[in-house]
Amino acid sequence: MLTNKNIIPISKYIGAMVLDVDLAKIDEKTFTVISDAFDKYNGLLFREQSLSPEQLVKFSRLFGDLDHAPQMENGQTAVAGFPEIYIVSNILNKNKEPIGSLGAGEAVWHTDMSYLPNPPDISMLYALEIPPVGGDTSLCSMVAAFNTLPDKIKTKVAHLSIKHDGTYNSGGLLRKGLREDNDPMTCAGQPHPIVCAHPRTNQPVLYLGRRRNAYIVGLEREESEGLLDSLWDYATLPENSYTHQWQVGDLLMWDNRATMHRRDPFDSSARRLMQRTQIKGQIAPSAFGA
Ligand code: SIN
Repeated sequence: MLTNKNIIPISKYIGAMVLDVDLAKIDEKTFTVISDAFDKYNGLLFREQSLSPEQLVKFSRLFGDLDHAPQMENGQTAVAGFPEIYIVSNILNKNKEPIGSLGAGEAVWHTDMSYLPNPPDISMLYALEIPPVGGDTSLCSMVAAFNTLPDKIKTKVAHLSIKHDGTYNSGGLLRKGLREDNDPMTCAGQPHPIVCAHPRTNQPVLYLGRRRNAYIVGLEREESEGLLDSLWDYATLPENSYTHQWQVGDLLMWDNRATMHRRDPFDSSARRLMQRTQIKGQIAPSAFGA
């Protein structure tokens, strides 16, 4: 039986590894232990899994309704028969077209789809093929990021919002249907409070989304840029994060309401194939103390 003894923290502020569990066979008690650990650590790692697409979708659904995968860079919407699964991959098909998104480049720090009114609550990434080196994924605790801020900055941002740009994905590519716009004041985007209350734990969390084209609503552009740079410097301090070196069969899940993530680049001639699911956002991010 899974107990708290099977939950091993993997860094100071973010993430735990769950030992001795087969995600294809989860009963109610096991789910409760996993769900409690997820609320506590905001990121969980499960190793040596062997999940069919059905099993990945079934496990993901235990946490809530799933989003249909967004349109990928190849113009397709999802994996045939599994509209909830998004492919993150640099692999090319026989026509030399990518079978998934994000290529082999760096994916910069971001929170998934924060340009939406209700961004997804949770993301899961399951590794099917990994390159021999590179392609590591880092998670950063936005609870720790908030706690790291000097009081002066906490007070300054307490009632401010960031407009989250929807123009570019974390690989820097233009999203389908949008036009190039590199002006934070004019680009299409969704405002969210900078300091949000986590809906399950009520802890204050910093909510930054992406740096590119971000704008702090109501400030002069220069002031917005300066304050954003400070927030990002604190948020991405190495002690706030965990870097994961993948093995085939790993499933890493993170709470988008309490984390950001990024990915290292890797050799584009190596193969990396991941399946991602996302649990729908229940509510819009809401201001802490509102
Ligand atoms: C992502 O940014 O969602 C993908 C992360 C990864 O490929 O490791």
